[in-house]
Amino acid sequence: MDFHKVKKLRGTVKIPGDKSISHRSVMFGAIAKGRTEITGFLQGADCLSTISCFRSMGIEIINDKHTVTVNGRGLNGLSAPDSVLDTGNSGTTTRLISGILAGQNFTSRLDGDASIRKRPMDRIIDPLRLMGADIQGDNNSSFAPLTIRGSKLNGIDYVSPVASAQIKSCLLLAGLYADGKTSVTEPTLSRNHTELMLSAFGAQVSSAGCTASVFPANELYGQKINVPGDISSAAYFIAAGLIVPDSEILIENVGINPTRDGMIKVCLAMGGSIELLNERTQGGEPVADLLVRSSSLHGTVIEGDIIPTLIDEIPVIAVLAAYADGETVIKDAAELKVKESDRIAVVTKNLSRMGADVTPADDGMTIRGGRPLHGAKLESFMDHRIAMSFTVAALGAEGTTSIADAGLAEISYPSYYKDLSALCV
Ligand code: S3P
Repeated sequence: MDFHKVKKLRGTVKIPGDKSISHRSVMFGAIAKGRTEITGFLQGADCLSTISCFRSMGIEIINDKHTVTVNGRGLNGLSAPDSVLDTGNSGTTTRLISGILAGQNFTSRLDGDASIRKRPMDRIIDPLRLMGADIQGDNNSSFAPLTIRGSKLNGIDYVSPVASAQIKSCLLLAGLYADGKTSVTEPTLSRNHTELMLSAFGAQVSSAGCTASVFPANELYGQKINVPGDISSAAYFIAAGLIVPDSEILIENVGINPTRDGMIKVCLAMGGSIELLNERTQGGEPVADLLVRSSSLHGTVIEGDIIPTLIDEIPVIAVLAAYADGETVIKDAAELKVKESDRIAVVTKNLSRMGADVTPADDGMTIRGGRPLHGAKLESFMDHRIAMSFTVAALGAEGTTSIADAGLAEISYPSYYKDLSALCV
């Protein structure tokens, strides 16, 4: 797909549902008793993979696009799937569902696409085994496909070496089926949607600092959930609105949970003009509309505790940094290497092709901004967030930027190109 420089961005965009929250609403609904009604569900390929996995385990899920209705069958109501559960491109589906499957009384197999088969699963296999789970990759590897033989589980007190909501959520879900309390302590706090939503479904969950705990549950109960918009999807518009001169856009329905809002803080620190309007609560999560105006930006240092709160936004923040004056340093973000692609390597490659001055590091990168960018032939590296981040880079670059596999936006934001072109003047 080809992209060109635009004069300005104007108008309003309404951000579709949060991917993390959409996954969880279906998963928790499936193991709760009774009906869960979800509005604002993200109809992206990843979340549809979660729906199809639970349908394969006997859960009736009606998706009429406006509302997703999950007719949950209780904590022990899943049935053995007839075939391999296909998690597609979704790390969240693969890792969270493993926690649920570990405590069932049947055996299941999980597999996904080529990218999923490369993502590290030892991060959930090791702690799940400490809980008594029987989970392994083929030939004893720690990669998908995974075989999980349901077992009796015991609660554990786990200190995770990485801040990861996928690890934390996997273990808390397994903890629902365990014989005692399960606690997960992370080095810094990752997104807390599981803690918030499991508690709304009736589980006994507590959080203190970087530790989240759950007690074994007798039953969860179906809920009505209105999923807020995904700040990770809003990120592309925030960056585009700041970069493209003479722009003013209203980005509606943005989830601003403090475990996810690091991109807003970084943009403000870089001199970006972002106003939070109409702050409210939706589905138990804080939400606002963001008024973004083009701004002259300067570099900053992004490191430490803020990293998990903007981990998925780093590719587009790197693009923003290339348009800012001075140096931006991103540190403590080695997790970028094990996302849908090695995001340190591929962001460096694409930005360099466009003429930016960027040096990769083992845990991040340094971008010396201010050089004019030019169009180039770019790859998406099978990563939806790379495809979308570089459309933003293209909007400020001279010439044509061709992005291969730009359709990958489908994974997390099916209407991205339609919504973006509606803002382009
Ligand atoms: C997610 C957690 C994050 C994030 C991913 C979604 C979640 O991954 O990158 O896109 O929904 O729990 P990690 O937990 O591996 O950091």
